[in-house]
Amino acid sequence: MARSESAIYKLCLVGSLIVNLFFGVSLYVGRRAAWKCRSDEVNIRGSLSWSGRAAAEAESAAAEECSGHGRAYLDGMVVDGRPVCECHTCYGGPDCSLFLPSCSANADGGDPLFLEPFWKQHAESSAVVVAGWHRMSYSFSDQTTLSKELESLLRKLHSLVGNAITDGKHILFGGGSTQLLAAAVHALSPGNSSLPASVVASIPYYALYQMQTEFFDSAGCSFQGDTARWNNATNTTRDIIEFVTAPNNPDGQLNEAVLHGPNVKTIYDRAYYWPHFTGIPSPADEDLTIFTISKLTGHAGSRFGWAFVRNEEVYQRMYMYLELNTIGVSRDTQLRALKLLKVLIEDGGREIFEFGYKTMTKRWERLRKALSMSKRFSLQKIPPENCTFFQKVRDPTPAYAWVKCEREEDRNCLEILNAAKILGRGGSVFHDDDRYTRLSLIRSDDDFDLLISRLEKLVSGEDGAKTM
Ligand SMILES: Cc1ncc(COP(=O)(O)O)c(C=O)c1O
Repeated sequence: MARSESAIYKLCLVGSLIVNLFFGVSLYVGRRAAWKCRSDEVNIRGSLSWSGRAAAEAESAAAEECSGHGRAYLDGMVVDGRPVCECHTCYGGPDCSLFLPSCSANADGGDPLFLEPFWKQHAESSAVVVAGWHRMSYSFSDQTTLSKELESLLRKLHSLVGNAITDGKHILFGGGSTQLLAAAVHALSPGNSSLPASVVASIPYYALYQMQTEFFDSAGCSFQGDTARWNNATNTTRDIIEFVTAPNNPDGQLNEAVLHGPNVKTIYDRAYYWPHFTGIPSPADEDLTIFTISKLTGHAGSRFGWAFVRNEEVYQRMYMYLELNTIGVSRDTQLRALKLLKVLIEDGGREIFEFGYKTMTKRWERLRKALSMSKRFSLQKIPPENCTFFQKVRDPTPAYAWVKCEREEDRNCLEILNAAKILGRGGSVFHDDDRYTRLSLIRSDDDFDLLISRLEKLVSGEDGAKTM
């Protein structure tokens, strides 16, 4: 018994030695291999260490071609180790090469993907690598929630473009301009009056103004529709908050304030006041002006907007709203915005605005040509504008076409377009007549190409019409 126990003991000892030797060697070999890989990576990437893997992952997603009709994203699905393609509207299949002929052209929504090719051309200068420990605090080291670097870049950008005077004005950041619009209405509404302020806008107006005011249902304000109703009532004791959208969504007009007087406060929404879309006749110098990165760089998904506010008390009330609502804008978003704006500032904004203006000009030319022989559809007319940025008089190139159906019987223009497999947004969404439909011209090339081909087909079917 004792002899067999000692034999088992010896067997176990030898076994354990073999196992230890095996794991020891593989650990050593594995480490050497891993070290070799890492040192190769470091060699390839110069002095980089921890960011190599992140960069490789980002490049692997970016390298998916998706047949030019889609995109793979870092945070998208991965199948068999490969990022999955997310296809543009009307394209399908694993590599997005499949065109879906019965699908409707999408000219709805305001997704600004027309600028995506610009960012692909500037992949290196616009990429951001974020360390796992990047700005984990609620605040920056100066105890604010706002990056001073980003603030100074924004002020510099406006001075380069000449579209806003920022001296002597406070700046606030918001989760897109959407959050700032709500903050502004709150700040301009009377805090302690029994008479709520009337919030108004000129038809056709961006639907969000009304939707927000009604949804947030504050005791301090209520939405009261079109400015035209209040034109003769500026001597009312009631406060009025007027939204002025310049250029306007949906029709691209450079609107000005309609109401004036001691009780009138104005919120200028300048989402589209950039040379992609309009001439810049002079810098905006208003008490409260709101901008957004969504239509400047096209990064609507990053949710970043900013406001310039002259009055200290209004600024403090907006500030309080933003702090209580979200404790400022995500530091990750601020980092991304900083990186993007650096690309713009590098050459004084020349490249991005030339790209944006050229793209929009070509799209307007194609749209005008497609509708040139039509008696059924017409486009908005906007006079040429002086542009201090390009130093010339230029035709405006608005983000949206405001299409009118001219035939008496075509009372619902969107229905006509929908039947021709075109999606847009009906006039009543902007509190205008349904004879109008808004078509977005700032979506991807695929969306725009399909829109044009569907319009050409629609116009060629008109009695007596021929496309050129
Ligand atoms: C006139 C106008 N203001 C504000 C916004 C909202 O922009 P953001 O993405 O900054 O919230 C839009 C979006 O389309 C818009 O058209």
